Amino acid sequence: MREGFFIVFEGPDGSGKSTQVKLLSKHLMQDGHHCMVTEEPGGTDAGRILRDTILNPKMEISKKTELFLFLADRAEHVNKVIEPALNDGKVVICSRYFYSTLVYQGIARKLLPYKLLTKLNMFAVNDIIPDVVFYLDCSPEYGLSKAKQSSQVASSYHNGDRIEREGIEFQEKVREGYLRIARQFKSIFVVLPQQKSIEEVSDRIYREAKRRIEHD
Ligand code: TYD
Repeated sequence: MREGFFIVFEGPDGSGKSTQVKLLSKHLMQDGHHCMVTEEPGGTDAGRILRDTILNPKMEISKKTELFLFLADRAEHVNKVIEPALNDGKVVICSRYFYSTLVYQGIARKLLPYKLLTKLNMFAVNDIIPDVVFYLDCSPEYGLSKAKQSSQVASSYHNGDRIEREGIEFQEKVREGYLRIARQFKSIFVVLPQQKSIEEVSDRIYREAKRRIEHD
């Protein structure tokens, strides 16, 4: 029985998801909610190994392998982390979910038909759909420069991880893909434009999350 509330953040590389995830969890915890923050890829022990295999630029894996590793990471994450926390009544805040695969592997890489990719994802996640998805929009130029800065600080991948190295055209397809998906899932997607300050965006996200949690 699912009793918790499931919040997902999506957006291109460098769009500021981790900052907004931290701020939202802080605000919701101040209100007394039990929050669990997690991320994909790499939200479990096995997932952290998969994450390095997927993102390490030195690892030469095929695009199909990349897809199946993301799905494996997600299946493990939902089974071990997300579903138990939701059953426990927690507010789960997750950076990236299957929309990332629909956009990066489906729309940007065009690896396989969208409907089939959706079915594979639904199988991986036991049909668990988020209650709300906050989509942080940003231009490919801005996102890529931010992502490269943070991966130099946070990881050993100089010049970005394997996916960031795909470059600006790829990031343009990613952004277009997200905007398309946001229209498709418009009852749960909240689109946040790039022009606003961190505080303004965080305030809008908090108000929207609170409203939806209270009406759940
Ligand atoms: P990460 O460092 O987590 O990116 P960010 O901080 O921007 O969220 O790296 C994850 C990368 O993997 C990112 O480039 C998006 C990509 N990705 C996919 O291509 N497909 C997926 O299903 C997921 C979850 C991520």
